[in-house]
Amino acid sequence: MSRIDWTSHTGRALHGSVRVPGDKSVSHRALMLGALADGTSHIRGFLEGEDTRATAKVLQQLGVRIEAPADGERVVHGVGLHGLRGTAHALDCGNAGTGMRLLAGLLAGQAFDSTLVGDESLSRRPMRRVTEPLARMGARIDTQDGLPPLQVRGGQPLRGISYTLPVASAQVKSALLLAGLYAQGETEVIEPHPTRDYTERMLAAFGWPIAFEPGRARLSGGHALRATDVDVPADFSSAAFFLVAASLVPGSALRLPSVGLNPRRTGLLQVLRLMGADIRVENERESGGEPVGDLVVRHAPLHGIKLPEALVPDMIDEFPALFVAAAAAKGRTVVRGAAELRVKESDRIASMANGLRALGVSIEEAPDGATIEGGVIGGGNIDSHGDHRIAMSFAVAGLVADAPVHIGDCANVATSFPGFTTLANGCGFQLT
Ligand code: S3P
Repeated sequence: MSRIDWTSHTGRALHGSVRVPGDKSVSHRALMLGALADGTSHIRGFLEGEDTRATAKVLQQLGVRIEAPADGERVVHGVGLHGLRGTAHALDCGNAGTGMRLLAGLLAGQAFDSTLVGDESLSRRPMRRVTEPLARMGARIDTQDGLPPLQVRGGQPLRGISYTLPVASAQVKSALLLAGLYAQGETEVIEPHPTRDYTERMLAAFGWPIAFEPGRARLSGGHALRATDVDVPADFSSAAFFLVAASLVPGSALRLPSVGLNPRRTGLLQVLRLMGADIRVENERESGGEPVGDLVVRHAPLHGIKLPEALVPDMIDEFPALFVAAAAAKGRTVVRGAAELRVKESDRIASMANGLRALGVSIEEAPDGATIEGGVIGGGNIDSHGDHRIAMSFAVAGLVADAPVHIGDCANVATSFPGFTTLANGCGFQLT
């Protein structure tokens, strides 16, 4: 991949309507369930990101025909629950933890062996959180000391288990539920902190009997998935950068249409409002079983807060953006209970602390969070550590910094938000 660096300059007020791309979590799951279903599923609003394209390619390697009639559309010709074909080639999940962890569960129930690999960042991310409970179900998956590549042995009879998640993780929950499709008996996942429930909602939409409520999901093996059409909402996590940017830059007013508002994703909305943000939801409606609405954000002065820990899982991908909001807010913001940030695409506590410090912000790291003193953001040089959300967050910081912010290693923004620079510059960012 060729190296891409950005410079973000102080911006003028942000205006207009910004249509952010489709939800990454929903796009991955729509491909996987469409592949295992009987019949043909149409996906609209599909995220044309590298992460979700990697998942499509893996499924194609396993014998699934997937067509792309237009940008943001996929037609998945399902092969049925037992119709995947093995391949001797490694299956490359790229940068995507969601792809690798969900596929680990799905492949554990197949008759054939598979190997899952990823890029440098994914190759450093912990996999025992999925392989350990999957082993309890009877799966055999070898790791490299807990890290990828994953060697998944086929032909293992799986049995349902009841499992209480030690960390709040929708990826682990989803891996177990997907393995549970192939298991004898009932698979139950209990979560101390409820996480995004797209797998549960989508299994139900594909006709699989499943009982779920916040914090608990239960299903049994031995049913079938029926093809269905999926409308993917715009990704709240991509909208988040614009919510923070427009809140910070005086005179701004932005509309973000048709954003997915699943309550397990919108923690940042609540937190920004607690900080004083002016964000309204309009045209609230349901689309494909998911709450969706238009977000209207206007500039408002923000103040620091002690972040309620209960909201952490509901905004787990939004902390880089929140750290920038906190750095530009009046007063101190305290984040705790977010140790999971250390095992994302980069160690996001360290990446943000180092970057903000380089811009003259006072920030103190904790093992599970940080304390940020809001004030003036200066210019400087930042390393994104190849992490898409770190790169986009510092693009937002540059808008309100008093000198240019140079951001290194931004190519991975294409994993989740292709076209970010065009959309951003279209509404008032000065990103070169
Ligand atoms: C995701 C779950 C979260 C999130 C990731 C997408 C999903 O990861 O950070 O971006 O689609 O299930 P964890 O399960 O590791 O919290």
